[in-house]
Amino acid sequence: MVDTNLVDLAIEASQKAYVPYSHFPVGAALKTKDGQIFTGCNIENASFGLTNCGERTAIFKAVSEGHTEFAELAVYGTTEDPISPCGACRQVMAEFFEPTLPVTLIAKSGATVVMTVEELLPYSFTDLK
Ligand code: THU
Repeated sequence: MVDTNLVDLAIEASQKAYVPYSHFPVGAALKTKDGQIFTGCNIENASFGLTNCGERTAIFKAVSEGHTEFAELAVYGTTEDPISPCGACRQVMAEFFEPTLPVTLIAKSGATVVMTVEELLPYSFTDLK
């Protein structure tokens, strides 16, 4: 089931994106298990490798505020197909989210597809033992 409110908030969050280099805004909205929502956008830098993706901005905002129990994530990008999160963001999702957590991916048109964290990053590196 797609949380339409979370979709709207991810789209809205993309309007805050700082993207002078790629001109590719991304927005994310993350819901905690107790119903709080943290949004994020991508934030670029003239030193390109320092760029922070929208997904990681939302996750890091929530974790830095003491939240570690998450229910759902929505990600919006101005792509024809629903946005495909980058590898770094998939790894960060695997760190903080349960494997079954639903991630709603949103296209420019508003079309959505829902994938779990496990589907986005199978056989993830999450256990040092
Ligand atoms: N980007 C994200 O914010 N999330 C993704 O999952 C894919 C890529 C950003 C990084 C950069 O600011 C721009 O999109 C182009 O790569």
